[in-house]
Amino acid sequence: MNEWKPQQVAVIGTGYVGLGTAGLLAHLGHQVTGIDIDPNKIAQLQRGEVPIYEPGLDQLLADAGHNLRWTTDYENVIPHADVIFICVGTPPLPDGRPNLTYLEAAARSIAQNLNGKVQVIVNKSTVPIGTGDWVTRILEEHAVDYHMNRYFVVSNPEFLREGTALGDSLYPDRIVLGGHALAVERMRDLYAPLIHQTFEPLAYVARPREYTVPAVVETTLPSAEMIKYAANAFLALKISFANEVAGLCERVGANIDEVATGIGFDQRIGHRFLAAGAGWGGSCFGKDTSALISTGSEYGYDMPILRAAINVNQRQRGVVLEKLQKHARLLKGKRVAVLGMAFKPNTDDLRDAPAHDFIARLNQLGATVVAHDPIAMDRARREWGHLRYIEAPTALDALKGADALIIATEWAEYRSLDWNTAVQTMRRPLVIDARNVISEPLDVPATIEQIGKELPEKTPALEGTA
Ligand code: UDX
Repeated sequence: MNEWKPQQVAVIGTGYVGLGTAGLLAHLGHQVTGIDIDPNKIAQLQRGEVPIYEPGLDQLLADAGHNLRWTTDYENVIPHADVIFICVGTPPLPDGRPNLTYLEAAARSIAQNLNGKVQVIVNKSTVPIGTGDWVTRILEEHAVDYHMNRYFVVSNPEFLREGTALGDSLYPDRIVLGGHALAVERMRDLYAPLIHQTFEPLAYVARPREYTVPAVVETTLPSAEMIKYAANAFLALKISFANEVAGLCERVGANIDEVATGIGFDQRIGHRFLAAGAGWGGSCFGKDTSALISTGSEYGYDMPILRAAINVNQRQRGVVLEKLQKHARLLKGKRVAVLGMAFKPNTDDLRDAPAHDFIARLNQLGATVVAHDPIAMDRARREWGHLRYIEAPTALDALKGADALIIATEWAEYRSLDWNTAVQTMRRPLVIDARNVISEPLDVPATIEQIGKELPEKTPALEGTA
């Protein structure tokens, strides 16, 4: 390794990926400037406020604040940057293809401000295969004196999960770098403290047990782009597989949790991402599986496994509502509690959250919905204005007087609720536990439906014992 020098880094886009990347690189010692076209977001960041909820992120951005600046202004940043990260959103269009408008705008703004020296432009947004070359072309078309041996586009996909973004960034399984060898070498330099794990650990980010160093995968642009999609598609597929098997478990009297444990010991399968439940949500799995399918169809290539994974996921949301209707029957005028609104715990992200579809369907069926989420309620007030529900300040408030309950997100506080007491506050103790949160049979009468298993009967005390 050459003597390591901090670099000037620009990060375009201050969403989950951009903020995480900016915080990580600033912590590694680089001089980082975050750029966003939204002046409100930038003003917030300049005041030290973090526009999204991600555990530890506000602290990281504050701790690394001496290496961080925020601006809306490309002209004063791009010419001085050694490395420019593109971390803008690529939300899905109605036909499933990603919307590349923000990416194109970012690439044009970069092009107009290139400095005539060697600069590396890194695509961290999840983009369709071939986008790296497309970005190169935009630079070529819009830069004043473009030269292919000066400006290099690298694909460095992001694998972080919301809720554990900091740990995933500091202790990644792998770092994928796709592009020209020279640019990849520069990226290795940039990430050297991460690759060799020589950075200062953060007290508030746990290092996974037995973690050593990340694998570095050096590859071509299209392979790097494909790795990101294939990884997410495979994870989505794994969850859909667990949900499909869960349905059969229910029919034959098997227990999906035990089945998943049993198959997971086969190291070729592994235990992770086999939790059956309400299915996947969030901003990535649905978008990326659809994008892969639509790339396939552009080439006349069908991807039936991925289509099935999406169908099973959609069906799973219906399964949860069927379980409710099986017991509650007519829902008009009934009061239904929904616990959990975020698509998964430890985030306020509501994108493609199963709870959204549950509430929408309950609205259609004429039920009164009372919803609770420990973190996402504020955001839901802004983003779910089209849904009708009453906010409950606590989980217990949501349950009070309810005719039924759907547990849509497995927040830790729901797992640790005293369920024996909680169900007694309901008008009717009917619980559709779509995340298999309740682990013990209750002492009080209640109807509890879970996914892919039944709660065991309470073992009766032996005669003569207390
Ligand atoms: C995912 C990928 O994990 C990450 O690598 C990628 O960069 C972005 O997409 P994220 O969307 O933050 O990250 O969430 P993740 O923790 O992966 O969960 C995705 C969804 O799958 C959630 O809705 C979760 O509830 C569901 N899930 C996950 C299951 O239903 N069962 C499981 O076993 C695991």
